[in-house]
Amino acid sequence: MSKLLITETALRDGHQSLIATRMTTGEMLPILETMDGVGYYALEVWGGATFDACVRFLKEDPWERLRTIRKHVKNTKLQMLLRGQNLLGYRHYADDMVDEFVKKSIENGIDIIRIFDALNDTRNLRSAIEACKKYGGHAQGCVSYTLSPAHTNEMFIKLGKEIEAMGADSFCIKDMAGLCDPYNTYALVKDLKAALKIPVQLHTHATSGMGSMTYLKAAEAGVDIIDTAISPFGEGSSQPATEPIVYALRGTERDTGIDMEGLNKIADYFRPIREKYIASGLMDSKLLGVDINTLVYQVPGGMLSNLVSQLKQSNAMDKFEDVLREVPKVRQDLGYPPLVTPSSQMVGTQSVLNVMSGERYKVVPREVMQLVKGMYGRTTVPIDEDFARKILRKGERVTVRPADMLEPELEKSREQFADYIEQPEDVLTGAMFPEPAMEFFKYRKEQREHA
Ligand code: CO
Repeated sequence: MSKLLITETALRDGHQSLIATRMTTGEMLPILETMDGVGYYALEVWGGATFDACVRFLKEDPWERLRTIRKHVKNTKLQMLLRGQNLLGYRHYADDMVDEFVKKSIENGIDIIRIFDALNDTRNLRSAIEACKKYGGHAQGCVSYTLSPAHTNEMFIKLGKEIEAMGADSFCIKDMAGLCDPYNTYALVKDLKAALKIPVQLHTHATSGMGSMTYLKAAEAGVDIIDTAISPFGEGSSQPATEPIVYALRGTERDTGIDMEGLNKIADYFRPIREKYIASGLMDSKLLGVDINTLVYQVPGGMLSNLVSQLKQSNAMDKFEDVLREVPKVRQDLGYPPLVTPSSQMVGTQSVLNVMSGERYKVVPREVMQLVKGMYGRTTVPIDEDFARKILRKGERVTVRPADMLEPELEKSREQFADYIEQPEDVLTGAMFPEPAMEFFKYRKEQREHA
C-alpha cells in the first residue's frame, strides 16, 4: 500500500459544518500559500453552500473567490462538490446549463469535481461526469452514504461499478452524517478496492465520534484518499481533524508525508478565526462535541445546524428532540433518501412542519411534492403508492431522467440577467440562486457607482 492522500476541507465542508459557511475570502487569503505547501493531495474549496453563502450573506462573487484561491494555490489540486444535475442549486437543470457550469468551473481553477446525487440515481450524474471529462477535469463520482434496509455494502459496490463504467476518474463514499463505523467501513473499502480499478476516497464527519477510528480502519483496508479538516475547523460536525491522523500514520506504510510543522502553522492561523465565531455565537456548542443523535436519528451535521437555526428562529428549541425523532419517519415515507442537499432540506423542513403543525403532512412544501412525483429521480426504495396519492392528490408520477423533460435554458437565463452581467459566469450565478443573485448584482452595481 502506498501513502494515504489527504484532502483538506477547512475551506468548504469545515466551515460549512461548523459556522454555516460564513468564512470570507479575506479570512482564507493569508494562509493559502502555506496550505499549498504542506503536501495535501487537494483542497476542497467550493460547493453549493459556499457559493450560496458568498452571494446571499457575504456579498462576495464566488467566482472571484475561486480565482483568488487558484492564484495562491499553484501546486495543490482544487476540488469542488457538485450536486449532479442540480449543479449548486436546488432543482434539476437542463444539460446545456450543466455543460456550461462545469466548463466555467474548470476554466476558473477547479481540478476535481466531486459529483453526487441526493437520491443516488446515477442517471443524474451522467451529464456532469461527461462534461467534466470533456473539459479536462477529474470527475469523481460519488455515492451518498446512508443506512436503511436497502443500503447494504453490496448496493454501494454496485453503484461504484456503475459510476466507474460511466467514466469517472475516482469514486467516493460521501458519508455526510458520520454513519460509517470502523469495521463495516473496513469491509466496504476492502470490497470496493477489489471491485474497482479507480481510486477510492472516503468522506466522513466526526459528528458521531467515530470518524477518526473509521479513517484508520479505512486506511488499513487500502482507501486511497480521505477528507480531513485542520483542527480549528475539524471534529464535531465537521471532518475528523487533519493533524491526529497525519501524526498517527507517521512511519507506517500509509504515512501521508505531510509536513507537521506546516500543519501547526495552518492550525495557529485558523485558531483565532474559530474563537471569533465561537464569540459571535455562529459556532454553536451543539456542533462541537460528540453527538450520538446522529447515529440514533442519522442526521448529518450540516442538517443538524440548519434544524437548530430554524427552530431558534421560531423560538421552538424545546421541539428539537421531537423533530429529530420525526426525521427517520419522514425519511422512510420518502423512500429512504440519503440526507444530503436537497433531500436533507426536504426531510428537515417536512419534519419541522409535521411537528409544529401538530398533524403529519398537513402542510407539504412544493419540493417534497416534487420528490414524491419523481422530479428528482428514483429513490432507492420506491415510495409507497398510497402515500404518494395522498401527497400528490392527482397527477402522474414521473419515471424518466428528470432532466430529459427540460428544454435548453442557458439562453433564457442570459436574457433574464442581461442588464447585470459583467462576466459570462454571472449567468450561472443567476441561474443557481435567482433572487439572492439579483440582489447581489444590484449591490455590486451600486458599489461600483459609488466607488
Ligand atoms: Co460533508
